[in-house]
Amino acid sequence: MSGPPRRPGAPSVLLFEPSDFARAAASHITAAVGETVRVRGRCALALTGGSTPRPVYDLMAVPPIAETIPWDCVDIYFGDERCVPPDNPASNYRMAHEALLRHVPVPQGSVHRMEGERLDREAAALDYARLLPTRLDVLLLGMGEDGHTASLFPESTAVRETVRRVVPAMGPEPFPYRLTITPPVIDDAVAVIVMVTGSEKADAVARALNVSHSPEEFPIQFALRGTWLIDHPAARGLRGHATALEMPDDAGKAR
Ligand code: 6PG
Repeated sequence: MSGPPRRPGAPSVLLFEPSDFARAAASHITAAVGETVRVRGRCALALTGGSTPRPVYDLMAVPPIAETIPWDCVDIYFGDERCVPPDNPASNYRMAHEALLRHVPVPQGSVHRMEGERLDREAAALDYARLLPTRLDVLLLGMGEDGHTASLFPESTAVRETVRRVVPAMGPEPFPYRLTITPPVIDDAVAVIVMVTGSEKADAVARALNVSHSPEEFPIQFALRGTWLIDHPAARGLRGHATALEMPDDAGKAR
């Protein structure tokens, strides 16, 4: 594991071997949650969907990591959801429930899923915005090869949202209808943890961290002030770039 010294406004980048990634990410998240609970008494943790976090959640669900998380002090939220029922295989809630939530003693009333199945997506988004705390303590994010994060897709309406905190959004088929948190929620989160693995993400990682700040075109750049956990294949585009981890001082600032 290695990482550069953190600079103001710059991402903190931690690199891992693929075989170490899930355990390292689970430990990192657990430490952030534990520290928040120690300082604040509770932790609002927002989970990400996608395939990357699944092995991380699997490890957070079992000893020894599961035992170190004060689950009764954790409130679970979600960064985005497909507009499907919660038992649909495409549901982010279903994935998180199966991998993590059903295995740990988090009170059911502390799990706040996005109600993607509601026909009135506007109302579902407004209701979820009311549920969200003013600031998430720990926000987990993934990244697509096109640079999307949560369901903030390049050049979509949602990436230009500056007031609303949750909005209906459009993504690719086969599940185009989504609900997503907006850039202000990412900006306001206390700790943002981005997880990226796999060589197919290498170009996107390089673009996110090397190329000038343009989050409406490459939405993961809304998370540049976060901690990026990357495996070596996904970091391949950073190698050989002396400046790969050097960001302009204002790179992580809000738009
Ligand atoms: C989702 C996500 C999305 C995801 C990326 C990466 O609902 O799918 O929240 O933003 O994090 O698409 O997904 P993978 O981890 O599957 O590559």
